[in-house]
Amino acid sequence: MDVTFKIWRQADSHTSGEFKTYKLSGLLEDMSFLEALDYLNEQLVLDGQEVVAFESDCREGICGQCGVVINGEAHGPHAHMSTCQLHMRSFKDGATIVVEPWRAAAFPVVKDLVVNRSALDRIIEQGAYITAKTGTAPEANAILIPKKVADAAMDVAACIGCGACVAACKNASAALFTAAKINHLNKLPQGQPEAHERLMAMTKQMALENFGSCSFTGACEVVCPAGISMSSIAEMHKRYLQAKLFG
Ligand code: FES
Repeated sequence: MDVTFKIWRQADSHTSGEFKTYKLSGLLEDMSFLEALDYLNEQLVLDGQEVVAFESDCREGICGQCGVVINGEAHGPHAHMSTCQLHMRSFKDGATIVVEPWRAAAFPVVKDLVVNRSALDRIIEQGAYITAKTGTAPEANAILIPKKVADAAMDVAACIGCGACVAACKNASAALFTAAKINHLNKLPQGQPEAHERLMAMTKQMALENFGSCSFTGACEVVCPAGISMSSIAEMHKRYLQAKLFG
């Protein structure tokens, strides 16, 4: 298949960028979207041009490294799918495909399609862990967790930290990411001794970064590759209110 890529090229965060057009022939519809970008880069190398910078690692939808805006949609045309899971058969032969980096003040462009997502790491650093003297590994069944609770914690632990929720949100809010990281520990008995501190520290850090506020429009839920529900944000707000009122 033949496609025309319009790709955002930007040298660094201090330089303004622009779209550059690349026509590609001979792509296979079973190629992944990232393989098509690899193919483009091979052509650019052969032409002596600078390759397009983009991020990826696992290419299996689990690491959260990939992520670009494709034709105006974070991770492309399908809901709940990371960029690396997208295939060229999702586009028509002859299509023009516009590819941009995540657009958010908290995610400055490093180069081309690569953005700096360390703001998410700084939220994690504030409490997405459990501090305990663990000693040797305890017997797995020593702390009984109801299946309903374990399932609910696992649902939010599925967040891969890609940042698509921020990119899709008109306010560039990181509420879905932060809620997922808080709730998956606060739901479990092991996370409860530090639940209050975790909630306060992580929401405080979220507010200190350049993210916007959540206005519950729900775009984050649609693009999230892990299918994390907006109800997680409501749960974070409820827990925050409880912590403020009752300490
Ligand atoms: S490369 Fe790991 S989630 Fe896409």
